[in-house]
Amino acid sequence: MANKLKVLNNSVRSLYHYNKKTVKLPYLPQFLWLEPTGQCNLACVVCPNSVLESKENITYMPLGQFKKIVDEASEFIGSAFLFLGGESFLHKDIFKMIRYAEDKGIRPLIHTNATILTDKYIEEIFKSGLDYISFSFDGYTKEQYEKVRVGAKYEKTIENIVKFLKRKKELGVKKPYTVLQTLITDSDTYVPGNELEQKFHTIFDDLPIDEVNIRFPHNWGNTLNNTDQYKPKTLTEETYSPCSYLWVSMSILANGKVVPCCFDFEGECEIGDTNTHSLKEIWNNDKMVEFRQSMVDQTYEKHCGICKGCVYLWHEKTLGIPMGMATVMGQSLMNVIGSGSEKYFKQALKLIQPEFWYTVKQ
Ligand SMILES: C[S@@+](CC[C@H](N)C(=O)[O-])C[C@H]1O[C@@H](n2cnc3c(N)ncnc32)[C@H](O)[C@@H]1O
Ligand code: SF4
Ligand code: SF4
Repeated sequence: MANKLKVLNNSVRSLYHYNKKTVKLPYLPQFLWLEPTGQCNLACVVCPNSVLESKENITYMPLGQFKKIVDEASEFIGSAFLFLGGESFLHKDIFKMIRYAEDKGIRPLIHTNATILTDKYIEEIFKSGLDYISFSFDGYTKEQYEKVRVGAKYEKTIENIVKFLKRKKELGVKKPYTVLQTLITDSDTYVPGNELEQKFHTIFDDLPIDEVNIRFPHNWGNTLNNTDQYKPKTLTEETYSPCSYLWVSMSILANGKVVPCCFDFEGECEIGDTNTHSLKEIWNNDKMVEFRQSMVDQTYEKHCGICKGCVYLWHEKTLGIPMGMATVMGQSLMNVIGSGSEKYFKQALKLIQPEFWYTVKQ
């Protein structure tokens, strides 16, 4: 099991080596995206799943393979998003996966579309040891929601989330830390705290949501290039910084292939393969080292077309720390201070940077 302080120390080292532009790294990653399945029951307009030509290659990771990856990762990884480009609750072994990661000392975190939360699933979630759950609910009216979350039914998803929250309240438990996330797709006319938004949030009055997260959609690197709607803002050359994910994390698709980040649903920019190599080997293999170098040299497009125009290359820094790295550092810190402190930690951060997109609930 990874020593939590060692993971935090590696997060600090990653900032040092990122600033120094080291490309062969003398430490291991601290965070994983580990995808149980890339399959999804929705085709949200904000998500590359809506434009994938074929889902033939999208698979389910066998439990044995998941365990093998977690066994190795548990030596150095502190927490992991158990999703990437699909809906993880579609995997028949998802609760065994969550439990396995948790027992091995990797904090399991999940985002879900909440469409398939049956009573049985809700009970399993509370038993599984899941540390963090974020419900993706894009829209404050039936019309808005169903236009974005194609294939979902507004009333049914709300019913599922409310059922989950009522059960959490009944059980009196703090875990999992619960987030309600909404992507704003009408950004030109959106007014924060508008009447519809307020009315929508009253549905969850007196229910144990820990955080409300209101964000604008990105374009998944260069993946959602079929529409102007999700193009990143015009950004200037001067604000460019290499993608910090490559200094702190690894992303693994359900077929075992390692990709640079969670934007590469189809393995377009494959870095390595966990079927044939260990995570440690892949972390500093030739492709990974060359890719980091290309980030430093700004020639990344040769290595990965998805990066072209990706918001993470121009994202504003937090306390001088690039966005992806700041998120991973926060997770490493949470491992040490305990996820029960997540609320207080985030409240403190929000005081430092009030423009952050989340609101922590009392
Ligand atoms: C790809 S989804 C996978 C997990 C699950 N299927 C879900 O929808 O929550 C992961 C996260 O990406 C978010 N997401 C989807 N499209 C996005 C976009 N264009 N910009 C920012 N986040 C996006 C989803 O809301 C979700 O929180
Ligand atoms: S955002 Fe989530 S639910 Fe929607 S299509 Fe993508 S993976 Fe599926
Ligand atoms: S720049 Fe964007 S697309 Fe490229 S690796 Fe980083 S997050 Fe992924």
